[in-house]
Amino acid sequence: MRVHLPDAAATDALATRLHAVLPADTAGWTLLLEGELGAGKSTFARALILAMGHDGPVPSPTYTLVEPYQLSGRTIYHVDLYRIADEDELRYLGWSELEKGFRLVEWPERAPSLAHAADLRILLSYSNAGRDAEVIALSPRGVDLVSRLEPIAST
Ligand SMILES: Nc1ncnc2c1ncn2[C@@H]1O[C@H](COP(=O)(O)OP(=O)(O)OP(=O)(O)O)[C@@H](O)[C@H]1O
Ligand SMILES: [Mg+2]
Repeated sequence: MRVHLPDAAATDALATRLHAVLPADTAGWTLLLEGELGAGKSTFARALILAMGHDGPVPSPTYTLVEPYQLSGRTIYHVDLYRIADEDELRYLGWSELEKGFRLVEWPERAPSLAHAADLRILLSYSNAGRDAEVIALSPRGVDLVSRLEPIAST
């Protein structure tokens, strides 16, 4: 599924709509946020974390690698792999300990093997003054999610 996002508010709105179709239990879900520098990955992540019930700042995990949240019964891990040079470094991050949470991963390109266990890929790209978002299902439950998102994505 592909949708044009003319401004940052549209990126926020897509994240809010995605939240609206998420299942109550998101344990073990992985959402990949891809796109070049400034494509809007953090904008999307912030809007999603706020939609999930967070009240306050959403610091960038660029240096901490992982920022955890406990929000209305959900554990969310906001991950940024920009500074990871080698996939093996995921071990230091304690990646396997994040299994029970909802993993929201910026720069997943740094660890290509993550895609095998992911549910959704959101690919953001520059399009005139705005962005395009491509939402790709990577698992059966991802397919289900996209089918529920598609009808409301550009309303
Ligand atoms: N759909 C959009 N149209 C225009 N500008 C947007 C859109 N979405 C986000 N932006 C703007 O793009 C800028 C960069 O966004 P953001 O920091 O989220 O990108 P990023 O992909 O996380 O970048 P980085 O790779 O550097 O972490 C911000 O100023 C944000 O407001
Ligand atoms: Mg970012």
